[in-house]
Amino acid sequence: MTKTFFIETWGCQMNDLDSQRLSGSLKLRGYRRVDTEGEADLILLNTCSIRDKSEQKVFSHLGRLREMKSERELQIGVCGCVAQQEGEAILHRAPWVDFVMGPGNVGHLDQILSGDRRVAIDFPEDRNYDYLAIDRPSATKAQVTIIEGCNKNCTFCIVPTTRGREVSRPFDDVLREVRAAVDSGRVEIELLGQTVNAYRCPITGRDFGTLLSAVAKIDRVARLRFMTSHPAEVNDSMITAMRDHENISRYLHLPVQSGSSKILRRMKRLYTREHYLETIARIREAIPEIHFSTDVIVGFPGETDDDFEQTLSLIEKVRYGSMFAFKYSPRPGTPALKIGAPVDDAIASERLTRVFDLHERIKREHLESYRGRVLPVLVEGPSKHDASMLTGRTDYNIVVNFSTASAPAAVPPGSMLGVRIDQAQHHTLRGEAVA
Ligand code: SAH
Ligand code: F3S
Repeated sequence: MTKTFFIETWGCQMNDLDSQRLSGSLKLRGYRRVDTEGEADLILLNTCSIRDKSEQKVFSHLGRLREMKSERELQIGVCGCVAQQEGEAILHRAPWVDFVMGPGNVGHLDQILSGDRRVAIDFPEDRNYDYLAIDRPSATKAQVTIIEGCNKNCTFCIVPTTRGREVSRPFDDVLREVRAAVDSGRVEIELLGQTVNAYRCPITGRDFGTLLSAVAKIDRVARLRFMTSHPAEVNDSMITAMRDHENISRYLHLPVQSGSSKILRRMKRLYTREHYLETIARIREAIPEIHFSTDVIVGFPGETDDDFEQTLSLIEKVRYGSMFAFKYSPRPGTPALKIGAPVDDAIASERLTRVFDLHERIKREHLESYRGRVLPVLVEGPSKHDASMLTGRTDYNIVVNFSTASAPAAVPPGSMLGVRIDQAQHHTLRGEAVA
């Protein structure tokens, strides 16, 4: 009998990709993926611990799996950042868990399944990155890790603990993986890393901008994105690469976290408000049509009304096309715990609402500004809501639903079309393909 598996994934794109890697290596071992936990012989929980009560969520999920396991043969593995953070403690609290495996060991699932190790939370030198085995869910897009871990140590952040020190993949490995992805029809490439623009080839020392150009030049790469850039790592080489290659998205996610230099210093973000705004201006000068998105944290210890107002004014200044905002959440073992107590929860909630309201307004204006324009759209397939229409994304990652004169089936996923925008909806655009 073929064994079956199910993977539940929480959190960021790195976790998504880790699940694709786990799934691929299980399939290589002859496992079959199933859609529900009830049918699975092996259940992997790929967890996230970036904010909130993520550990509790995992333990309550494990409580439900315990009952399932009492009724039948079942193997349970806890992976991801909660696994890394809690380690052996998971086996004490939930002894019915078979193994605990951190993000550094995704490439070593074999050893763990064979029963050699129950707790694997080291960061082995050899990450065993088998890109040919990645089980990619999309026929048109591929995510490609170029750098793992993070050396930045922002005081609020658990990632340096859960994902370890920075390790860049060799330049040529990345190019080989991209070529293989493109050969399989994945013409949209997204380079991933916690601090993607800190990339440096471990063999040749080539930097992120050089890698961007090299990937952009690969035949048939229709669109190239990357996540997440750190503002202090933006340099001319990266900006020039973006400017010179049309297939690199005119869209940049550049998390600011706060608009107050005082708070940025406490967060150890390595830039000031002024430096961040200069960086934005420098990029806009080289690439005038660029759009930005960001992450913001409210309620960090010591954030006064004035600090918060500076965050709002920075958002107004940059006019982000999209953004994510979070209430500060104290994380175990992080330096911010020593800085002081978080801002009163009611105040933090109110600040969060104000950020959302401001951003809603900016986003509406932003979407409305596309009306009447023709935008290049990368086709993903038929629209979920209306099969006579197609769906795709703009360069700025906005979903566009559109009609075409030809039959939708005649437009294969992965094609690039010009779409005239006639309507801005809540989060998406509507339009019509132009010849
Ligand atoms: N470099 C990363 C950032 C990781 S976390 C990346 O690839 O996106 C994503 C976002 O979560 C951060 O930018 C930050 O805004 C938010 N975040 C991280 N730690 C947090 C915490 N302790 N409380 C609230 N938000 C947090
Ligand atoms: Fe976290 Fe800061 Fe790195 S937010 S992932 S420590 S850049």
